[in-house]
Amino acid sequence: DAVGRTVNVTHADSAVSGRAIYVDDIPEEKDELFVGLVLSKRAHARIVHVNPARALAFEGVTGYIDHSDIPGRDGYGSIVPDQLVFAKDEVLYSGQPISGVIATSREIALRAADMVEVQYEDLPAILTIEDAIAVGSYIGDAIKMCEGDVEAALTSASYTFEGEYGTGLQDHFYMEPQASVARVREDNEVEVCVTTQNIATVQGALANLLGVTSNKVTVKVKRLGGSFGGKDVIPVASAGPAAIAAKKTGRTVRCVLPREVDMAVRGKRHPFLGRYKVGVSMDGVLEAVDLRLYSNGGYAMDLSLLIMELAVIACESGYKVRNLRVEGRVCRTNTSSNTAMRGFGHPQSALIMEDIVARAAAVTGFTPEQMRERNLYKSGDVTPYGTLMEKVTLTSLWAECKRKSEFERRLKEVESFNANNRWKKRGLSMTASKYGVGFSAVFLNQGAALVNIYMDGSVLVAHGGIEMGQGLHTKLIQIASRVLGVPREKIFTNETSSREIPNATVTAGSMGTDTYGPAVRIACETLVERLKPLREQMQGAPWEKLIIAAFFQRIQLSATGFWKSPMTENFHAETKSGRPHNFYTYGTACTEVEIDVLTGESQVVRADLFVDIGRSLNPAVDIGQIEGAFVQGLGMVTSEDMWVDENGDIINNTPLKYKIPNVSSIPRTLNVTLMKNFDVDTHVYSSKSAGEPPLILAMSVISAIKHAIASAREQRGETGYFRLDSPATVQRIQTACGRQIIK
Ligand code: MTE
Ligand code: MOS
Repeated sequence: DAVGRTVNVTHADSAVSGRAIYVDDIPEEKDELFVGLVLSKRAHARIVHVNPARALAFEGVTGYIDHSDIPGRDGYGSIVPDQLVFAKDEVLYSGQPISGVIATSREIALRAADMVEVQYEDLPAILTIEDAIAVGSYIGDAIKMCEGDVEAALTSASYTFEGEYGTGLQDHFYMEPQASVARVREDNEVEVCVTTQNIATVQGALANLLGVTSNKVTVKVKRLGGSFGGKDVIPVASAGPAAIAAKKTGRTVRCVLPREVDMAVRGKRHPFLGRYKVGVSMDGVLEAVDLRLYSNGGYAMDLSLLIMELAVIACESGYKVRNLRVEGRVCRTNTSSNTAMRGFGHPQSALIMEDIVARAAAVTGFTPEQMRERNLYKSGDVTPYGTLMEKVTLTSLWAECKRKSEFERRLKEVESFNANNRWKKRGLSMTASKYGVGFSAVFLNQGAALVNIYMDGSVLVAHGGIEMGQGLHTKLIQIASRVLGVPREKIFTNETSSREIPNATVTAGSMGTDTYGPAVRIACETLVERLKPLREQMQGAPWEKLIIAAFFQRIQLSATGFWKSPMTENFHAETKSGRPHNFYTYGTACTEVEIDVLTGESQVVRADLFVDIGRSLNPAVDIGQIEGAFVQGLGMVTSEDMWVDENGDIINNTPLKYKIPNVSSIPRTLNVTLMKNFDVDTHVYSSKSAGEPPLILAMSVISAIKHAIASAREQRGETGYFRLDSPATVQRIQTACGRQIIK
């Protein structure tokens, strides 16, 4: 039986050998056209005049499109339609698309797009969180959550302190950039292949843009070359121009954003700023935290408020805070609109909480690990938003992590290493995470599937979920195989299409398997039910014989399945109504790093991760997800950051200047242990998600770096807390170690 077994990802062979098809691999049609985008070079300005004459004179350029070519209505977004395919009178960030140049080749289109002259009249721009706070520039209302009596707890606590912590911007850096190919058929029908996690929202946006109804627009995704949250609705930035140009020219049009354009147009992981007041008891209990969170939302709403909501409700990470008050605000700035990225606000507030823990350790004299162990979430605890926690496995994961990673022994080794090395320092740290999975908006917790059995017995499984490399299609085929009792080899998923699955919800929040798995299971169960009498009659007959007999008996061999969560009430943090999550996953990590005090470089020597994801549907896929999430988190907390200059231009939007982890910066040793915890009753064969939660385990990396730096500082007679914002870049590590020692 295929559920729970290690099974290769369906497209593994073709992906690693380069045969797998991504949008830009779709063979070009004869007469196909390409559109290149003209981007704003100002953070905030009035558009005085746009002159495409030089571009139009370029050989191979066949046309030009801007807001006036939009047959319907411009405007798209995850929640409100406040993002534009083409700016009209004003640009709100550097990188905002203004228009498009259509040409016979992509090289010509891209070069000609650079020749379009735009005259601007500059307006004042807000670029940072601090700028936005100063003038009160926010998106939406504050998100608030309060539990207990924070004032009283702060007054009575043995130790109190206040501080501030900042986290950086992280790019999704998926391998396949935003891309679309649009074809127009008769009757105004459009078919678009587009790199999106959210076919229904993109379909709706394109219908609005083109001024047609949704039944005329098909959005299709074979698979994505990675996404990590960066392909929710922003794909309209490529699909919109392609569809508008296709409509205008009647030809197939392709729009593929070159990496620099992709990185300029699209939002990224929100930078956060946390300001806190904390009270801790003599014996290290986190008595009170009064926290203000600010994020840089960029120019439009996108998913920023939902991301802030998760940051607020998840801010304790794995540790119980007795009295907690949080207020989160999304800042509106003149940068691209920041968006979902693996962890969805959770990593940012976890970083801030780990800073609080580190500081609490410094004032109480405990080690950070003692502080964490002391405050671990346990069964019976109630979250600050009113959920009673059950079957919390953190205590045993912590103990297992401590024992199997040999924390105590290695801590002594690290101490002796540090005593014997002046310019290299090691650090060792353990952190814990609890991660809630499920969408706080009830309507998102629904999914549909369509399962067809053909006369030869082969099975096609269609569902609304997007394959982005996380192995979703593989897991759902395993489920179909189990329910139908048919080998996996006979089952296939070809693509996700708005034609087969209408109104599909976004594949995000690590909910893909939990949303579409039950839908596939229900569809298959319907088929099994229909085949049951015949199966009994034909005892032992092979599947193919059974199916052909069923066809001649006129048994319907196609079924839909629909799943919705049992939740009925939308979650609201302030009133503690509803439940934001369907279940929780837990993890602990022990990481050892080595830093170079002089250069500020850091390297993970070894990391041991212990993860409770219930009964894994496919251990190989899940371990791959855990390793990937951890390494993406490692990049987030060490080397990935983006800087804008005073014009609001991103300085490092090229792969040359933006540093993701590579073969030499991943952990030298990385051990993943899946906890054997089958005492869970989630709806998909007791499995829990592994897509995003393990990213939080990378908190142990920056924590270990802090430990290593502390040793370098001690050497200079400095003890106690020091601030190390995320990412812990070489510059920050050097500075924290004390630059003067370099002289
Ligand atoms: N893994 C790969 N290879 N590529 C991706 O783009 N996205 C991550 C995670 N793992 C991603 C990935 C994110 S942000 C999410 S929300 C989940 O996969 C989505 O898929 P799932 O819900 O099926 O786990
Ligand atoms: Mo994932 S950030 O929810 O796409």
